[in-house]
Order: sequence, then structure tokens, then C-alpha cells
Amino acid sequence: MLYLHTKNSSYIINIKPYGKLEQVYYGKRIKEDDNISLPSQSNDPPHSVLYQQDCFDTLERISQEYGENGKGDFRESGIFIFTDKSQTTDFCYKSHKFYSGKNPHQTMPTADENCETLEITLFDDHLNLELVLYYHSYYDVDVIARSAKLVNKSQQSVTIDRMMSLCLDLDDDDYNLISFEGSWANEMHKKEQPITTGIYTIDSKVGTSSNRHNPCVILKQSQATEDFGNCYAFNLIYSGNHAEIIERSPFNYIRFLTGINPYGFNFDLVPQQEFHTPEAVMSFSHNGLNGTSKNMHNFINNHIVPKEFAYKDRPILINNWEATYFDFDKPTLLQLAKEAKDTGVELFVLDDGWFGNRSSDKAGLGDWVENKDKLCGTMKELAEDINNIGLSFGLWFEPEMVNQDSQLYKKNPHWVMANGKMSAGRNQFILDLCNSDVRDYIVDSVSTVLKNANIEYVKWDMNRNFSDVFSASVNNQGEVCHRYVMGLYDIYKRLTTQFPKVLFEGCSAGGNRFDLGIMCFMPQIWASDDTDAVERVRIQKSVSYGYPQSVCSAHVSACPNHQTMRTTQIEARFNIAAFGVLGYELDLTKLPQIEKDIVKEQIAFYKENRATLLYGDMYRLQASSEQRTVCAVVSKDLSTGFIGDFYTLQSPNPFKNKIITKYLCDNKYYNISARKQYFIYENEKVVLPTENYCGFGDGLNYKGFVLNNQHIGKLAENTRTLCDFGSRLYNLDGAEK
Ligand code: GLA
Repeated sequence: MLYLHTKNSSYIINIKPYGKLEQVYYGKRIKEDDNISLPSQSNDPPHSVLYQQDCFDTLERISQEYGENGKGDFRESGIFIFTDKSQTTDFCYKSHKFYSGKNPHQTMPTADENCETLEITLFDDHLNLELVLYYHSYYDVDVIARSAKLVNKSQQSVTIDRMMSLCLDLDDDDYNLISFEGSWANEMHKKEQPITTGIYTIDSKVGTSSNRHNPCVILKQSQATEDFGNCYAFNLIYSGNHAEIIERSPFNYIRFLTGINPYGFNFDLVPQQEFHTPEAVMSFSHNGLNGTSKNMHNFINNHIVPKEFAYKDRPILINNWEATYFDFDKPTLLQLAKEAKDTGVELFVLDDGWFGNRSSDKAGLGDWVENKDKLCGTMKELAEDINNIGLSFGLWFEPEMVNQDSQLYKKNPHWVMANGKMSAGRNQFILDLCNSDVRDYIVDSVSTVLKNANIEYVKWDMNRNFSDVFSASVNNQGEVCHRYVMGLYDIYKRLTTQFPKVLFEGCSAGGNRFDLGIMCFMPQIWASDDTDAVERVRIQKSVSYGYPQSVCSAHVSACPNHQTMRTTQIEARFNIAAFGVLGYELDLTKLPQIEKDIVKEQIAFYKENRATLLYGDMYRLQASSEQRTVCAVVSKDLSTGFIGDFYTLQSPNPFKNKIITKYLCDNKYYNISARKQYFIYENEKVVLPTENYCGFGDGLNYKGFVLNNQHIGKLAENTRTLCDFGSRLYNLDGAEK
């Protein structure tokens, strides 16, 4: 029996006498016990395929460690290989070893090496293929990362038709599936559904990890809640086409698979070559969805994001995109920068439109040379001017793309990933990152810009989905999408190694590539092009199931909002953005003075509390209705924190509202006060009534506290004032008493 433990979970594998690996248990931590009772198959299950003549085991009735095809397990398999000998594989146990750290074998991004590893080697004697299963346990954060490697030790090429990163068979069957679905500017709709008989797939075929179906999925006991019950969260360290396959077999076994999407994929492995899957991660918690979220948050902060940026303050930025779109010149930018500096912003980000002949989205992509007319000089000079204002300087790039109307396309039309008539997306085409010349060009052109000016931040965008998938530099077209992702990682690696201090932010038309692969290089990602305060509450709440607030960029933008046309108070926009990496993306030069003054106070507040807001433990709290979202961040030492209370539509004379905190220190006494907040009413700035509450942690955790009545008609002492889409931020201040 092989045991893998994290602080609160155990994973147990049995080696069958005939060499197959059986998944015995994954769940709350239990003691090691080699006599643990296992399902026995003492007679021949009618009309089943026995694994071999002299044993009664039929593989579809045993939880497998890594299901395969052709030996009687008729469920979706972890691996499927074609050789000229067969399509059946029969990998059997050969050896295993435990060690600290990782063998430096992966060419793809992975979680760091601060882990304990179990490596199991299996062999198919008939095909001469070796399969190595890796399990990396991240003890403190209750996460296990898994991957699989296939080594072709035969004399013939084999074709991998599918090779998943993780296969998990669950003993119990009462699980619901939670996934996050969406589209552009409409990302992360949380869906929950029972797992019924059959096969259900969540996947991406768009080339990126996609806004359609995020690779983070959760299996929860149907009765589990935010705080109670068994939950398994999964994710994949990969930025391309992925699939999560859930099968409930007729025998009520649940199998979960995640990895590279088998659709449109296959990979040729010549003799002695190996193929290593991306790493998948899984976390179990007995404490509901908040439990798995906390594990994943800590895992990402501790083991995924680049060390240079882990637990570091992130600069508050101003981005000119929604302020100017393409219509800017140097004086406009400097004016915006001055206003931003005045409010307390730290970083100025120049978005799309600074290069080539880019004055709309129809031209210029690919030509990463500053447009000196528009910038009235060089990028170096602009950066200096911004620096002289007192801001650091950052730049937008979209290096994976080309417009036909560009110098790059004129010179290298064959660099586009297409073969024949091309479908367009946002008037642009995807460069073939499988081609090393293309990668060299991207690295050279981006690094030339970064070397020649004081650029401390890069927003790396990617604004279209794949079509016409083809690469002239790849023999097997089934490999193209995967090789593209490998090419992308190669570029990221070269650039982030060359510029280790530059803060890279990921973006793909917002959240089209919000995944752990990107986070291995880029510690923050623009979660959505939707900056509407109400939508952001939903999006960021969904994000919080799998990702910490420190990776999720969130901007305060103008109203009416550019995506929804909704008008919300500037304080409501800030309150939700404060639960992420704060930025502003609006024309501050046009903002009325009263709102500018408010922005100044918001930024001062964020700076003072940045460490807690970014790195405190985040929980979703109980909300009394669909119209409300409540969440909290609490510092690791439980002495300070914030609660966000967000509403959509109001009705007069509402029922009482209560907040029940979680995980505060039972013995600490907490003073709770609402952040000083303004309400703009008939163009006047009105201070909302103060709100103060208090109590011992245990009382707040179990009984909760009732909020002041909401005002009906007039602002008054001891009332709470919220308009439609209103929200409040409460500061928790705890001390031993
Ligand atoms: C994408 C990004 C935006 C902005 C534009 C610029 O849509 O998500 O934030 O950078 O591109 O073209």
C-alpha cells in the first residue's frame, strides 16, 4: 500500500498482485493501515471481462489509479495509445520511490519544488512503453499535484491519442459538479449540477484555457456547503485546450479526468522520446468550498506565482484603455498621469495603440516599435516623463498576433498559423508559435522595447480564439495546439528570465486565459473586460473558488459603465476592486473634483491595508438573499480583516441583515467599523452614517451581528445607507481582551 499525506488529507494506492494500481482512498486524513478493507471480487461478475483468466478482478469495478484502454475497464481512460501492434495498453507496476522535491524533468511550468514526491513506474512489456506517474504533495496547503510521463522504449513510433494529467476514481457517488462557464466580458458563471450516469465534459477548444470553461472545477458532496462537507477542487497548470471529463459508470463509480483536451490532439512519440503531461492539481477539504478555496489560495501564493512577486505589494495602476482607447497623444497621457499621481496611483500603464500604425484594431499588431508621432518622441522619453511625474511605467503588448496591415505580415505572411483561407477575429491573426523563428522574433522585439526604456510592468494580451490551426513547422498537425502552448511558455521563460524584475500581467480579452500556467510566470491576470461593479462582484466571487485575490486584477472604471451602461456609485466600484489587485481605468481628467477626492481616499485606504486585502485568508460568508454577496479577508494572525457586503437591487423597508463571520479568533475582541464612505447625491458628496459593531470572535463567528436598519427616506444616525448596487466595507480590528 502506498500512502501520501498532506496535513489534512490522505491518498492511498494499492498495488494489486497482478500489477495494477488501485485507488483506495482520497479524503480526510486517516491513519496508515495495510489491512484497510478493499472491495473484493470473489466471483466472476456476469458478462464482465476478467483482467486475466486466473483472477476474478474486472477492472471496471475497481477504482483505477490511471484508467487505460483494452483490458475490461470501459470507462473513459487516462491514456489511449495507438501503435502498429494494438490500441490496448497494459501498464503494470515495476517500482516506486519517495523523495523530497522534484526531478527537474518538466519542460512545462509546474508548481515549485517544495514538496514530497511519490514516483511510480509502470511498464507495458508487450509494447515496451514506460509510464511514470508523479504525485507531489504540498503538505501545508493540502494540495497534491500530479502528472504522467510516457517513455517510448520500443523501436517503433507510437501515437498518443490521449494522455490526461490526472485520473481519480471516487468510491462514493453522491457528488455535484461545480464549474465556471462564460464568454467574453461575461466570465465565470458558477454552475452546479448533479453527476448523473454518462459522461460529461467541460473543455476548451479555443486554443487558450478559455473564458468558456475555466479549468478550475470542483466535485462536492451534494449536501456540502461553503463550510461543511467533502469537496475536491481540481485545476490544471496549462494554458491551452483542456478537458475535464466526469463519468458516472453504470456501477456508480465516478471517474474524474483532467488534462490536455484529447479533441484535436495526438502526439507522435519516436523511439526513446518521452511525453510529459502538464501538471494537474487537486485538493481535498472536509470543510466545504471555503476549505478547498483556502487550500488553492495558499497553494497559488506559496507555490505557483514567481517568487519575486510572492506576497509582495502590487502597484496601484492607472490604465489608459477605457480613458482614451486609441485616441491619445503624449500630452493626453501626461495629463492623465499627473491626475493619477495626484490621487496616489503608483504605476501608469499605456495600453493598446502606441506602436506601428496602430490607430484602430485594424492595423499594426506585430510591429513592436513605438509610434514616434503619437508619442511625440521615443518610448524612453515618455517613460522618463512619466517617471518624473512620480509614477513607474508599464506597457501593453499583444505579441502572439499580427494584423495583415502591418510590416510584419508583409515580410512574413507565412508566420501566420493557417493554411489556406483564413478566418479572422478582431481583424487579427495568430502567429505560429511552434516556429522557433517566430518565437525569436517575439522575444527580440519585446525585449528591445523593454531594454530601451524604463518599463517596470508588461500587460501581455491575447485577443482571439484559434481557427485554421496549422503549422508548417510541425509534421503531425495533431500536435500544433499543444506545441503552441509550449512555444508560448518558451517565450515567457526567456523574457521573464531576462527581465526578472518586470511585473507581467496576463490578459486574454479579459479572462480568456485565467489559469495556473500563466500564473507561473505572471502573478496577476486581468480577470475580465467587464468592469461593471455588479458584474465584478459575481465574477470575483466565482474566481475566489479557485484563485486568491492577489492574482485577480480589478479596476475602478467610469460610469455609465462601458460594458453594461450601468451607473453605480464610485465607492461601490472601489469596494469590489479592493478585493483584488486595485487599478483605475477611467479618464481622471474628466472626473468631477468630488469623485477625485473620493478616489484619493480610496487609494490611501487601500495602501494602508494592502497586505491584508491581497494576502489575507478570503472566505465567502452566508448571504441572506440572491441580491446580496458577503465576503471577508482576514489576516493570517486573525488580528485584522475586512468584510465586503454587496447588494444589487434595494427595496424599501427591508428585513434585517446580519453578518456571521468565520474563523475569527474566538478569544479576541473585535471592533467593527464601516469604512468612511461617501454617497454622491444630487452632485453633492454625502458621508454615510458611521456604523460600529463589536464582539468576541466566538460571538461573531457563531451568533453574528445584526447590521443597522437600512435607511428609509432620510439619512440618519444609526442607519445604513445603500442604494441599488450599494456596498459597504467593514474593518475588523481584533485584540486579546
Ligand atoms: C483587450 C483587453 C483590454 C484592452 C484591449 C486593447 O480587450 O482585455 O483590457 O487591453 O484589448 O485592445
